[in-house]
Amino acid sequence: MLYSLLRPLLFGLDPETAHRITFDGLEKAHRLGILGSGPIRCQSRNVMGLDFPNPVGMAAGLDKDGEHISALAALGFGFIEIGTVTPRPQPGNPKPRLFRIPQVNAIVNRMGFNNLGIDNLLANVKHANYSGILGINIGKNFDTPVEKAIDDYLICLHKAYRYASYVAVNISSPNTPNLRQLQNAEELDYLLRMLKLNQQKLADEHGKYTPLVVKIAPDLEPPQIDSIASLLMKHRVDGVIATNTTLSRAGIETMPHASEAGGLSGAPLTERATAVIRRLHDMLQGALPIIGVGGIMRAADAKEKIEAGASLVQVYSGLIYRGPDLVREIAQALCVADTPHSDARI
Ligand code: FNR
Repeated sequence: MLYSLLRPLLFGLDPETAHRITFDGLEKAHRLGILGSGPIRCQSRNVMGLDFPNPVGMAAGLDKDGEHISALAALGFGFIEIGTVTPRPQPGNPKPRLFRIPQVNAIVNRMGFNNLGIDNLLANVKHANYSGILGINIGKNFDTPVEKAIDDYLICLHKAYRYASYVAVNISSPNTPNLRQLQNAEELDYLLRMLKLNQQKLADEHGKYTPLVVKIAPDLEPPQIDSIASLLMKHRVDGVIATNTTLSRAGIETMPHASEAGGLSGAPLTERATAVIRRLHDMLQGALPIIGVGGIMRAADAKEKIEAGASLVQVYSGLIYRGPDLVREIAQALCVADTPHSDARI
């Protein structure tokens, strides 16, 4: 409600300034105790061995450095994913690098993994003292050659392992040159083998199993999706997030900012992301869970993702266009859909 009043003011500012001001306001409201009090609770669901209080998560990229975990948690999310974080800090691409297309409820971004590095992120995680489900999304530095990407993922995996509820491996951002190449069969086979080997070592060392999930792009042909699904099963990866932003501009070619380089998210991505989830689900047949993301702007979009085979959902652009009410709206719809005769506690 409040957000619909604030939105015209925020949308009058450049998107990165609006982002900063929104988070400042969110932190102040959190300190005053006027946000919600934590995850919306419905029948909890066990996915990847974790108990999710509700199936609506915050997608990666909104809180890249884990600076706002407590305030975001107060909005009701069932889980929060921070990052993408890289081993070393890096500034990301030059500004401007973030664009709204309000005519179609979309965003184009080419942020380029601007972040302060894994050590800083982990200091923030410790400081937040958050006990809910926390995903840490990891990537490679822009100047690490793609043939050496595994080194960066392993640095981040080792450091994040004990603090994360799950670790998400981002091989699908369109804004780090050649990153998406890691989705090719040969590269992915090697990457997954190394990651799983190290996960096993870390599990023994820490006496704790942290699930590994892989985040994939929406711009994959059906045979590529099939090949990725086979590799995920072969290596017993714990989950898959579908999808990241798209390079496609189909249907919005003439809109202002549509020709900006970067990944498109929001409403124009909804169908494309759902199609990837459906194809993945056909291949995986429940062998591992799918976290559905991409253009969830209202509860009905989230329901479609679940019907296509997702076990959980995440939002980013929907939050920018609809505000925090969207979290409750989706949680309510999914929990009710899940438990038609029962005691969803919302
Ligand atoms: C993103 N996204 C993203 N994903 C990721 O894995 N790591 C990241 O650092 C980022 N950064 C990022 C920045 C911005 C400005 C946007 C809009 C998006 C992708 C995001 O997590 C999500 O997968 C897509 O945006 C699709 O979901 P929505 O936005 O349509 O709900």
